[in-house]
Amino acid sequence: MFNELGELLCTITGFDSFSLQPNAGAAGEYTGLMVIRAIIRYGDANSSIKRLLIPAAVAFKARGDHHRNVCIIPVSAHGTNPASAAMCGMKIISVGTDAKGNINIEELRKASEANKDNLSALMVTYPSTHGVYEEGIDEICKIIHDNGGQLYMDGANMNAQISTGGIPAPEQSQPLGTISAAPWGSALILPISYTYIAMMGSKGLTDASKIAILNANYMAKRLENYYPILFRGVNGTVAHEFIVDLRGFKNTAGIEPEDVAKRLMDKGFHAPTMSWPVPGTLMIEPTESESKAVLDRFCDALISIREEIAEIEKGKADIHNNVLKGAPHPPSLLVGDAWTKPYSREYAAFPASWLRVAKFWPSSGRVDNVYGDRNLICTLLAVSQVVEEQAAATA
Ligand SMILES: Cc1ncc(COP(=O)(O)O)c(C=O)c1O
Ligand SMILES: *[C@@H]1O[C@H](CO)[C@@H](O)[C@H](O)[C@H]1NC(C)=O
Repeated sequence: MFNELGELLCTITGFDSFSLQPNAGAAGEYTGLMVIRAIIRYGDANSSIKRLLIPAAVAFKARGDHHRNVCIIPVSAHGTNPASAAMCGMKIISVGTDAKGNINIEELRKASEANKDNLSALMVTYPSTHGVYEEGIDEICKIIHDNGGQLYMDGANMNAQISTGGIPAPEQSQPLGTISAAPWGSALILPISYTYIAMMGSKGLTDASKIAILNANYMAKRLENYYPILFRGVNGTVAHEFIVDLRGFKNTAGIEPEDVAKRLMDKGFHAPTMSWPVPGTLMIEPTESESKAVLDRFCDALISIREEIAEIEKGKADIHNNVLKGAPHPPSLLVGDAWTKPYSREYAAFPASWLRVAKFWPSSGRVDNVYGDRNLICTLLAVSQVVEEQAAATA
C-alpha cells in the first residue's frame, strides 16, 4: 500500500518518486531542503537523488557546490519555511510581495543575482498563502534556476492545483538516511491519504480542486460587500483561500480579529486562520468538503458580525462593552444570577436561528492569550501536595 500510495502521489504531482518519511508539512520542508543541499553538494547527473525527488520537468545540473547555503523565502510563506531553512543551516533572505499579494519579482531578481554564487533554493508556495496563483511563477522559477538555485514547492496548497498526469517511476533509495524515527514516517496516517486518493479517483481529485476553488470564490463573492477582500488574481478571482481584511475596524470600532474570532464561537464556528499570513486579517480556506448550506451559514455569521461592528461604528453599542468584546459567552456566564452586559443574554447566546437547533457552548470566556503563551501554568497539584492531602484524608 505504501508503494502504491507513492505511485499515486507521483501521478498527481509529476515527481519521479516520493518519500513518505516526513510526518508534517514542516518535516517535508526540512526533507526537501536537505535533498536540495545533497543535490547541490554531491549530486551528479546520474545520481539516484535526482531520480528520487526532483520533478522530471526541472532541468538539473550538479556542481558539487558546497558553499551554496542561501535560501530565499517570500514574506507570504508560512513561518515554518524560515524555521526549516534555519534548521538546515541556511542563510535566509526575505523577499516582499506587491500590492496584489504576488511575490515582488524585481526584488526576487535582485536578491537572486546578488547571491548568485551562493544561492541554494527558493521556497515557494503555489498558489500562495495570499490566495492567489502567482502569475509570474514561470519567471520566478527561471530566475532561481538561472542563478544556480533549486526550487522547493511548499505543498500545503497542493489541493488547489490537482489535475492528474505524469508517469510514476518508483525508486528504492534513501540518499539522506532517515528524516523521522520510523521507517515509513507516521505509518498509520498513510492509509488515510491512500484511501482518500483511491476513493476519489483521478476525476474526483481534479473535481476536489475545482470545488475548493469554487467554494472560496463563492464565499469571497458573498462577503465582498461587507468586508474588503485583500488580494485577488488578475481575473478578480481568488485561489482556494482568501483573506478578509479586518484592519480598518480597529479605527472605526476598536474591533480586532480576535473579537471577530471569539464572536464566531458564539455563532457555532471555530474561527479561520487569524492574523496570518497578514496581521489583522482572517484567512479563509473552505476546502472542497463543506456543503453549500454550511458555507452560507458561515457567511451569514460573518455578515451578522459586520452588522454588530456597524452598531459600534454608529455609536449604538459601546466601543469597550459590546457583544463582540464580551464574546465568547460560556454557559457559566449566561446562567449566572448577575448579568451586567448592555445586551441581552438571549442575544449573546442565540444571535442566529440555526443556533436553536445546534448550539456549540464555548467552555470558557475570553482568556489572556499572550499571558497564557508566556507563562506555563500547571493546573495539577505538586506531587508532594497530593501525597499530603491523601495522607490527611486517610488519617
Ligand atoms: C503554507 C504552509 N506551509 C507549511 C505549513 C506547515 O505544515 P505543518 O503544520 O503540517 O508542519 C503550513 C501549515 O498550515 C502551511 O499553511
Ligand atoms: C559566498 O560564500 C562565500 C563562502 O562562504 C563567501 O566568501 C562569499 O562572500 C559569498 N558571496 C556573497 C556574494 O555573499
